[in-house]
Amino acid sequence: MEFRIVHEGSVKLKVPVHEKLERAMPVFYNVDKADDRSLSVALLRCYREMVGRDLVACDLLSATGVRGLRLACEVPGLRKVVINDVSPRAFMLMRENVRMNEGCLRCEVETRNEEANRLLWTVGRRFDYLDVDPFGSPTPFLDAAARSVRPGGILAVTSTDTACLCAVYPKTCFRKYGSVVFKTEYRKEVGVRILAKKVIEVGAQHCLALEPVFAYVMGGSFRVYFLVAKGARRADEVLGSIGFILHCERCLFRRTAHLGESPEGRCQRCQSRLRLIGPLFIGRLCRAELGEMMLSAATGRIRSLIKLIVDENAVGTPWYYTVSALSSRLKAPTPRMDSLIDALRQRGYSAVRTHYDWAGIKTNAPIEEVEGAFGAAG
Ligand SMILES: C[S@@+](CC[C@H](N)C(=O)[O-])C[C@H]1O[C@@H](n2cnc3c(N)ncnc32)[C@H](O)[C@@H]1O
Repeated sequence: MEFRIVHEGSVKLKVPVHEKLERAMPVFYNVDKADDRSLSVALLRCYREMVGRDLVACDLLSATGVRGLRLACEVPGLRKVVINDVSPRAFMLMRENVRMNEGCLRCEVETRNEEANRLLWTVGRRFDYLDVDPFGSPTPFLDAAARSVRPGGILAVTSTDTACLCAVYPKTCFRKYGSVVFKTEYRKEVGVRILAKKVIEVGAQHCLALEPVFAYVMGGSFRVYFLVAKGARRADEVLGSIGFILHCERCLFRRTAHLGESPEGRCQRCQSRLRLIGPLFIGRLCRAELGEMMLSAATGRIRSLIKLIVDENAVGTPWYYTVSALSSRLKAPTPRMDSLIDALRQRGYSAVRTHYDWAGIKTNAPIEEVEGAFGAAG
């Protein structure tokens, strides 16, 4: 195995040299996920400040150890970070990386070489922050992960199951996540919301309320952070935000429906058949006070991403519109994004760009108003 030394955040790492980024790499390291890891650092720093006590964190599927090491070097107030990987090669490398960063560690780092579920079942409920960053789907780890976070702690879950969550393989999505999907222009957000639903559902089975507090899509990764609370009543409250989206493929009308509703089968606008997406999480994906705190502390590239996430969360709808979908429906040229946003605001609606898609707009305006604004902005 050939290696090179890289710098990420405040850590220095030995990582394998590779031609292609793939699972078969001897030890996985994706330089393009540096911002994703910077967001973990930013979130945990704010969370630590909010709770005001020393924390124990775990980077469950750690590969080179990069995420756990960044937490240990960049987040004040951690008592210990556990970094784990089942691969013996990864274990050897993460140990070297810990040694290489000894000078900048702010807390103890424990390295483990165990199967993730086995590790979680043996340690019990002890982590204040648990990070699950697998290849593909996180579903094999969710049961043990949900039960290993202390009440009041944070569970972070990644899925790189893009094709499945974004409706390329709807049957696989149903099998793995228990949700029905089809392709819409806002499918990336649907993917995040289906992931959130799946994790919430697993937590609820153990009477744990897993409330999404920050979520996004970056590259091919869907990531949701959950605040964990104990109790059947609180779990039921979070489950109350699980529902469906009813979508009209002909006129782009859409609306949400809660579990237990018997929604109409026809579009109220054009009478076409409505299609059902879900179940999925239809509540807010970002806790406003956490988002604002992360925003005021953040610098550089991640700051603009946090700003988009905070702003779009304030709009509150579980979808967005894209100018290309509107343009092909209205058979009209696409206006400038800023003009469309202004036109929607002039009509009294919230309208912002979305991090999910550069050609996307989040707005609480109904489709008739979006179309009107589209015409006015063109
Ligand atoms: C996507 S990589 C992790 C990337 C890492 N978190 C980062 O930020 O660079 C997934 C890792 O999970 C490890 N892994 C896969 N299945 C595992 C299991 N059942 N138990 C423990 N580790 C596992 C793999 O060896 C691999 O290193």
